[in-house]
Amino acid sequence: MNIRVILSVLLLVMGCASWVTAQTVRGNPQAGQVVYEKNCLRCHGAQLDGKGPDSQDLIVQPANLQSPITRSKSDWELLVAISNGVLFSPMHSFRGKLTDQHMLDVLSYIRAVSPSDIVS
Ligand code: HEC
Repeated sequence: MNIRVILSVLLLVMGCASWVTAQTVRGNPQAGQVVYEKNCLRCHGAQLDGKGPDSQDLIVQPANLQSPITRSKSDWELLVAISNGVLFSPMHSFRGKLTDQHMLDVLSYIRAVSPSDIVS
């Protein structure tokens, strides 16, 4: 292997590793806000505190996305909740309803309002 190949492999590995550890959400928070207001606000509320207008009618209350519990979760965990839904709760799956990009956008909006407290 010549030095160029070794260097580019090294750069690739470093690039991937920093993506995993930095937990960068590659979404657009502005676009995410629009997605949030249309699909999530009625349950999770304008303040992301879980007190949306529909929340009174629910037995399982929407998660307070500002809470330390949510903030301590990884981007991946939240994305799985959005994409797959949360079992036995009104949080249904958004896969097929939102594009992957819209899910990333809405996640970056959540993180912009309620930053992750995972130290990277
Ligand atoms: C019908 C009401 C409803 C709607 C609409 C809704 N959610 Fe939820 N969501 C819930 C409930 C209820 C839970 C909590 C489930 C539980 O107690 O584990 C939840 C949980 C979550 C969680 C997991 C939080 C955590 O700490 O694990 C995330 C993230 C989330 N919702 C994001 C969204 C996003 C983004 C949208 C819009 C695309 C959305 N939700 C739309 C009701 C809703």
